[in-house]
Amino acid sequence: MKKILVTGGAGFIGSAVARYIISETTDSVVVVDKLTYAGNLASLAPVSQSDRFAFEQVDICDRQGLDGIFARHQPDMVMHLAAESHVDRSIDGPAAFIETNILGTYTLLEAVRGWWNTLADDKKSAFRFHHISTDEVYGDLHGSDDFFTETTPYAPSSPYSASKAGSDHLVRAWLRTYGLPTLVTNCSNNYGPYHFPEKLIPLTILNALAGKALPVYGNGQQVRDWLYVEDHARALYRVVTTGVVGETYNIGGHNERQNIDVVRTVCALLEELVPQKPEGVARYQDLITYVTDRPGHDVRYAIDAAKIERELGWTPEETFETGMRKTVQWYLANQAWWQQVLDGSYQGERLGLKG
Ligand SMILES: NC(=O)c1ccc[n+]([C@@H]2O[C@H](COP(=O)([O-])OP(=O)(O)OC[C@H]3O[C@@H](n4cnc5c(N)ncnc54)[C@H](O)[C@@H]3O)[C@@H](O)[C@H]2O)c1
Repeated sequence: MKKILVTGGAGFIGSAVARYIISETTDSVVVVDKLTYAGNLASLAPVSQSDRFAFEQVDICDRQGLDGIFARHQPDMVMHLAAESHVDRSIDGPAAFIETNILGTYTLLEAVRGWWNTLADDKKSAFRFHHISTDEVYGDLHGSDDFFTETTPYAPSSPYSASKAGSDHLVRAWLRTYGLPTLVTNCSNNYGPYHFPEKLIPLTILNALAGKALPVYGNGQQVRDWLYVEDHARALYRVVTTGVVGETYNIGGHNERQNIDVVRTVCALLEELVPQKPEGVARYQDLITYVTDRPGHDVRYAIDAAKIERELGWTPEETFETGMRKTVQWYLANQAWWQQVLDGSYQGERLGLKG
């Protein structure tokens, strides 16, 4: 039984990782999260009562705070997901992305290295630092036959992807220079339950239910490769427990879709599941509104996930169709979760919980 420290575990993917580890394994989880606007303790409610679960509210830029956590919890592994993650926010205000994604990763690596150096040899060699990154570090693809592989050169386009690329380089340098046993994964776009409603799919679902415009950037023809978040969580656990130190694994769902088709899929599912539409709305897809494109918007992402499939035996369980249906159904069944995000009370509740 291992103890896994998960940074960013109150976020979208980190909370899926924490829920997966507690419900599907016998390991323990320590979530370390600053609780920015993207952190939500309600996403951890299904596992927060487990005696294998602990939560620490700490900024990964806070070295002293991190040192205290390593001394108290003595983790066997670290899965690093804490990050500023929204491209639009990185365009409006890049500073937080440089601080958390680059300085925070550096501070965490140093705290981990300090802790790792104190371990006995057997624990030291079994220790893992798993850095969770994005396919956006590779820039974008223009031909329809191209895919990102683990050796695709980095060419990030946005402050978000540039800051993630910087953090990936730091992690590899800490392996090469200090021997820290690290692994890196680069994943395509995730979707699924507990996704903050600033991102395309939850935004589209909630706006459609409210009869509001469904904004689509530019011509809507940008292609993303979509992966259901629970498939990603399973892949990450597979990598941290069985991956080879020093390796990079690309993770993707082979689900390339144009943004406009993703929005139309949500509309079609809502036509079926919620036929009674808001007043004045004849068809959900009539709400689609094209808006000025995002600066530097990448054209196409597509992941070649052959390595993780071949070497670690991971494949996604959900197709785009099954995953999207589950996602829309989840938002319909969990109004309390997103209502608290929309009205801001999830942050008030958090303050209440922390006393
Ligand atoms: N969402 C995707 O489609 C996707 C795809 C590939 C990779 N990733 C990567 O996966 C990771 C998780 O993404 P997500 O979508 O769950 O993000 P998210 O924004 O939903 O969650 C990020 C979490 O990190 C926490 N956090 C932010 N700054 C922090 C700090 N300084 N100290 C401690 N905690 C802090 C937030 O409170 C939040 O809980 C990120 O590293 C992201 O780059 C995301």
